[in-house]
Amino acid sequence: MNHLLLDALRCNNRSRPPIWLMRQAGRCLPSYRDVRAHHSLEELFHHPQLAAELTLMPVQHLGVDAAILFSDILMVAECLGFEVRFIEGKGPSIHPVLNTPKDIELLLIREVRSSLSCVFETIQRARQKLQVPLIGFCGGPFTIASYLIEGGTSPGKELAKTKTWLFSHPESFHLLLKKITEVTITYLQLQIEAGAQVLQIFDSWAHVLSIPLFINFSVRYLKQILEALKAFPVPVILFCRGSSFFVHELIRLHPSAISFDWLQEMGVLRRTVPAHIAVQGNLDPHLLKAPLHVIRTEVSQLMQSMKNEPGFIVNLGHGVLPDTPFHHVKHFVHSVRESQF
Ligand code: CP3
Repeated sequence: MNHLLLDALRCNNRSRPPIWLMRQAGRCLPSYRDVRAHHSLEELFHHPQLAAELTLMPVQHLGVDAAILFSDILMVAECLGFEVRFIEGKGPSIHPVLNTPKDIELLLIREVRSSLSCVFETIQRARQKLQVPLIGFCGGPFTIASYLIEGGTSPGKELAKTKTWLFSHPESFHLLLKKITEVTITYLQLQIEAGAQVLQIFDSWAHVLSIPLFINFSVRYLKQILEALKAFPVPVILFCRGSSFFVHELIRLHPSAISFDWLQEMGVLRRTVPAHIAVQGNLDPHLLKAPLHVIRTEVSQLMQSMKNEPGFIVNLGHGVLPDTPFHHVKHFVHSVRESQF
């Protein structure tokens, strides 16, 4: 069993740092594209046997130190009565669309265990075959709320409808966040029960908020999730776009680890974050499209700056870009595994 990730999350890793990548089970993998040629995303997300195979694939083909559940942060919307579809070349599409505060009042919470049984079965199946830890995950309530209000990825990625709602009807926005937080807590507890050994929260759209709005509309709910999970011996990694800007707010949440974007040097972030909180990241995903020697140099600089760090996890600052050449991703993982630490 490979314990590197669990050791690093306890800030107790005496060996090389673990490496895994956000979106490692995606289009950069040729074997993933083969499966996708025959199945839609909705089909894969609801098919435990195939989803479990896709969860294992990056471990087998890239040699990463952790697996992440093959699913999507938007699956949780099904527990609030939404239908989520993934349109080729366009991204997620969510129905019905929310238009008035009344629509939020009417949202009913469904039983999570039965609504998302496919996810829990995927976790159980994947765990039986894995020699590395399995990461479960969810979206941050603010990010999920924004997808529900926009009905998909926001045009121009400005979250215009979400922000207008938040300013015009803050009570209604809080009610939506409250409902999402409630299902998310149950969802994560059931992921742990099924066998998830680490959890990561993706608050991918948080970077559009000012610090006061981030505290009021994101942090408040992340805190409730983290507190509800304290009873379980499972480390939680917090990811949000803008994490280097929100670093002090994230520290106050006391997660096991913070996943950083590429805007600030990891060494500087390490000195800012208290030693009992691990740090994850933070190379720019575009680096992996550069020539192999450039990737190797960047990895070696990062590793040098984090030498002998017991709470460090190598990752990108965001997900692997879909058109990244597979052998570059492989070279990246290899460079980390081979580097002197
Ligand atoms: O490998 C992994 O990281 C595990 C699986 C995973 C997926 N989505 C599968 C997926 C994870 C962790 C996610 C999280 C997710 N989903 C986030 C948070 C992370 C982030 O990127 O900020 C968000 C915002 C979503 C919503 C989402 N899902 C979008 C916007 C899209 C379409 C655009 C895109 O990035 O491809 C998806 C589709 C999706 N989710 C794919 C996969 C493998 C599609 C890839 C394909 O077309 O085959």
